[in-house]
Formats: sequence, structure tokens, C-alpha cells
Amino acid sequence: MKLLLVGATGLVGSHALRLALDDSRITQVTSPVRRALPLAHHKLRAPIVDYEALPTDADWWQVDAVICALGTTMKVAGSEAAFHRVDHDYPLAVARLAHHHGTPTYVLNSATGADANSRFFYNKVKGELERDLAEVGFSSLAYARAGLIGGARTESRPMERVAISVLGALGPVLPRRLRVCPPQNIARVMIESAIQARPGVHIIPSTAMTQ
Ligand SMILES: NC(=O)c1ccc[n+]([C@@H]2O[C@H](COP(=O)([O-])OP(=O)(O)OC[C@H]3O[C@@H](n4cnc5c(N)ncnc54)[C@H](OP(=O)(O)O)[C@@H]3O)[C@@H](O)[C@H]2O)c1
Repeated sequence: MKLLLVGATGLVGSHALRLALDDSRITQVTSPVRRALPLAHHKLRAPIVDYEALPTDADWWQVDAVICALGTTMKVAGSEAAFHRVDHDYPLAVARLAHHHGTPTYVLNSATGADANSRFFYNKVKGELERDLAEVGFSSLAYARAGLIGGARTESRPMERVAISVLGALGPVLPRRLRVCPPQNIARVMIESAIQARPGVHIIPSTAMTQ
């Protein structure tokens, strides 16, 4: 199968990329990126794109499935509007273009608590994205609602690190839904979901991705 992976330079996305390239069921991976990927592989093509001006007629929009692990943080985005642009508008633009070109399946790295009516901005944006993706028309759509994502980052996120340490230490006694999700687990679940392409809209709970 052919896969389009967005967010391939991120923590979850880089695990998804590695798994996809190692998976014999996946024959081609296209990862549009804004900076060159630090690896080359015969199955991989990584066009450099500007998400503000995505190429509408590229042939690589037509694949068997999209996996989206794209997103930013409020700190990096700098404002709610900028965060919404990256975490909602970009994944939705990718979805619309891929669907327009005949792609039937989309798998989103979403978040626990995603709810378009939430009082919390982050959960609201994720919920709005899930709601709007459901209108695009994919025959298979899955939301991997991850909890707090563990793993090593180059970027400094001190509050997240504290939360990961506390939840990690408490892990064995915590209910599964509150445990940290290793990025490789999220990546694996999304790849399997993309390959299975079950008809309909599916929510994958964090308990399917925790340690
Ligand atoms: N952190 C958590 O605990 C948590 C929990 C649940 C769900 N999530 C969600 O899970 C998803 C993946 O998380 P992650 O931690 O793997 O993310 P990450 O490491 O921050 O990676 C984000 C990806 O999005 C890309 N990106 C960000 N801003 C962009 C922009 N303006 N234009 C183009 N690409 C852009 C990044 O590309 P560059 O490398 O070029 O920046 C990178 O590939 C995100 O949507 C996040 O909101 C996170």
C-alpha cells in the first residue's frame, strides 16, 4: 500500500516513518515536510512543502491512507489562532486534498478529551478537527486519542516532562487510561489502522497505546 505521512519529523511521526519503511506491506511512503528529512530510503519521498500553500495537483495526494501526526504547541505557535491554524487547518487541508485525489483512509493522532464543545482550548481544537474530518467523506477514518506522549524530545517542554515523570513513576498503579503513551505505540496503532482501513469512523482510546 501507499502511505502519506504528515508530521514525519515529529516524535510520533518519526516512529511512524521508521515503522512504515520497515513494513513490507507498505510499498511507498510520501512525507511532505518543511525541512529535509535526515534519512534516505528507496521507499521514501519527502517533498519540501509550505503548509500555507500546499500543492493542490501533486500526484502524491493519491495514496491508500494518510497518517497525520502533525501539530504544534501553544508555546511555539504563540497564539490560539496560530495554534488552531497548525493543529486544525493544516490536517484538514491535507485531508481534503487527499480525499479529492481519491484517498479513502485517514488516521489522525488525536488526543484524549478531544471535544468540539470542551472548555479547554486544546481539547476543543482536537474535537473540532475530528468533527470536520468526519465531513470530508473518507470511507475509513480513525482517531488515535493518545494521552500524554512519553519519549525523548530535543525541544524543551518542562511541564510536560514533569507530568511524564510523575505519571511514569505512578504508571503501574494508575488506571490504564491515565498512563503515558510511548510514541512507538501510537505509531504502531496508527499504521495498523491505516492498513486495516476498517469502514466507518473509529476512536482508538489511549488504553490501546499506553505502556
Ligand atoms: N504531547 C502530548 O502529550 C500529546 C498528547 C496527545 C496528542 N498529541 C498530539 O499528537 C500529535 C503528534 O505529537 P508529537 O508530540 O509527535 O508532535 P511533535 O513532535 O511536536 O511533531 C509535530 C510535527 O508537526 C510538524 N509541524 C509543526 N508545526 C508545523 C508547521 N507550522 N508547518 C508544518 N509542519 C509543522 C513538525 O514539523 P517540524 O519538525 O518541521 O517542526 C513535526 O513533524 C500532535 O498533533 C499533538 O498535538 C500530543
